[in-house]
Amino acid sequence: MIPAKLKSNVKGLSGEIAIPGDKSISHRSVMFGSIAKGKTAVTNFLPGEDCLSTIACFRKLGVTIEQEGNKVTIIGQGMDGLQEPAGILDVGNSGTTIRLMMGILAGRPFHSVLVGDESIAKRPMTRVTTPLSLFGAKIHGRKNGEFTPLSVIGGPLSGVTYELPVASAQVKSALLFAGLQASGETVIIEPVKTRDHTERMITQFGGEVAADGQTIRVKGGQTLTGTEIHVPGDISSAAFFLAAGAIVPNSEITLKNVGLNPTRTGILEVLKQMGADFSIEPYENGSAEPAGDITIRTSKLKGTVIEGALIPRLIDEIPIIALLATQAEGETVIKDAEELKVKETNRIDTVVNELSELGAMITATEDGMVIRGKSFLAGGTVSSHGDHRIGMMLAIAAAISKGEVHLQQKEAISVSYPSFFDHLDSLISD
Ligand code: S3P
Repeated sequence: MIPAKLKSNVKGLSGEIAIPGDKSISHRSVMFGSIAKGKTAVTNFLPGEDCLSTIACFRKLGVTIEQEGNKVTIIGQGMDGLQEPAGILDVGNSGTTIRLMMGILAGRPFHSVLVGDESIAKRPMTRVTTPLSLFGAKIHGRKNGEFTPLSVIGGPLSGVTYELPVASAQVKSALLFAGLQASGETVIIEPVKTRDHTERMITQFGGEVAADGQTIRVKGGQTLTGTEIHVPGDISSAAFFLAAGAIVPNSEITLKNVGLNPTRTGILEVLKQMGADFSIEPYENGSAEPAGDITIRTSKLKGTVIEGALIPRLIDEIPIIALLATQAEGETVIKDAEELKVKETNRIDTVVNELSELGAMITATEDGMVIRGKSFLAGGTVSSHGDHRIGMMLAIAAAISKGEVHLQQKEAISVSYPSFFDHLDSLISD
């Protein structure tokens, strides 16, 4: 396909946009709605390809789901209402769909087969299949359960105590779904706290879960009841415009309805450390997930160090933080982020290679990257490599590049943000 020409050398951004629904919360709303009893009504659902894959999979399990734009209605009949799928379950590009679904399917008394795209076929799955086998689940895949296609023969599960070797909300959530179906209690211990949308949603659906720091306990055999869910905007999508507002000259933009769950707001701490000029107006709506509006202006940035417990709170934002760092005075060091190697692409390599192509001074390390700023981005031909977040980061990089930027595999962006270019265009003031 011919690479798309992106808007470069943008003179300013102004105005406001409403950030589309959170991807993690949208997936979970369909999953919980499908295993609960009764009707669940979801508003501000993200109709991105990943979340549509989750809907398609649960429809194949016999759940009635209506979706029109960002409104979704799910008629759940409880865990026992799920039926053996007649065909394969295709998760597309979505790691969240496949990993969380395994936790649900592990306890269902039937056979299912999970596949995804080329990127999913390379992503590690034993981080989920190994602990699920401790519950008594039977899951097989290529290379001893590491890769898709995965075949799950579900059945009775027994609760376990499991210390996670990697900080992963996807693994934690899969084990919580298994724990909800297992006999006795399940105890999960995280090495570092990760996003807690699953825990919040168990409570929202009338279940019980106890979280004490990094230890989470859940009892099996609970009945969940359908509810109403309003999905806040995705801070991981807002991050591209937070960066754009800070680095495009003459800019002031407001991002409406941004989810502000503290397990996701690492990007705001980094912006603060780097000296960005922004303000937050939180909403007082008593919702399960906090949200607010953020206004950001063109800023004078300085380099920083990003490491340790902050990493899981901004793991998906590292590509755009790397771009921010190219426009900050001094050095930015990102450490403890080996997990980037097993995302939709190896994001250490894709970020370093694509930003270098545009003229950035950036080097890969074993567990992250080092960026030297402030650098002049000249332009060039780059690729998303099929990774939505790399594509969006490059579109913002184009906005501050002096010369032309051409992007290959632009279509990947619709995985999490189908209206991304409409939003970007609406903010360009020249
Ligand atoms: C997600 C958790 C994160 C994140 C992914 C979504 C989730 O992955 O990178 O985009 O919804 O639980 P890990 O938990 O594997 O780090």
